[in-house]
Amino acid sequence: MTILLFTVVIFSLTTCTEKAYDPSICFTENILPIFVSKCSMSGCHSPGSRRGDFTTYDGIMKRVVAKHPLQSSMYTKIDGSNPSMPPRDYIPLTDQEKFMIKAWISMGALNQSNCTVCDTTSFKFAADIQPIMDSWCIGCHSTSNAGGGYDLSNYAGVVNSIANNKLLGTIKHSAGYNAMPQNGSQLSGCQISKIQSWINAGHPND
Ligand code: HEC
Repeated sequence: MTILLFTVVIFSLTTCTEKAYDPSICFTENILPIFVSKCSMSGCHSPGSRRGDFTTYDGIMKRVVAKHPLQSSMYTKIDGSNPSMPPRDYIPLTDQEKFMIKAWISMGALNQSNCTVCDTTSFKFAADIQPIMDSWCIGCHSTSNAGGGYDLSNYAGVVNSIANNKLLGTIKHSAGYNAMPQNGSQLSGCQISKIQSWINAGHPND
């Protein structure tokens, strides 16, 4: 039993160490969306806020000490079992998101983009579309906090946002639509293309 426990501990320690230095964590694709979606709603860390603008690299770096997550308030405030941020009633960061932020800071908090391969020919709902919503949108569009009445945390809610060209109009920043993600930079051309192709294919729940 002791040996088993020991093996499990060693195993998880090694896996964590390996993952912590995973070079595929990329600021633009993996880190920025967490702050845009979960911290930048108006009244919180939106552009111009005296609490700090978390929609840009420079704004985020004001709270980061590169290579030292435990000296970075951007990490210490979200860490632990009872983190002070995001405040109660907002969507908490997932363990995976906290882990990525810690790893990104440990690796030097670089401003990298385009490190994730994005394949426009793959546009399945579960594998491609919902993950875009989960990274970039659900901080403001969850079931309990549905901005504009839109819940993008599940298939039915995403399908509901397609009507009247709302979903595409907002992410393409077309005239007459509220540009989304609100306060954030536009989704990449590849991400927009995936969403467009999935809608054109009849938005299957695949
Ligand atoms: C920081 C908060 C925030 C984020 C992140 C965000 N939204 Fe929104 N969204 C809102 C709010 C608030 C509204 C309500 C309209 C308004 O006040 O602009 C809204 C409205 C919308 C609407 C309805 C727009 C209209 O013209 O009626 C759609 C569709 C939408 N969002 C899609 C998205 C998508 C897709 C994403 C992710 C790519 C996203 N939003 C990310 C806050 C956000």
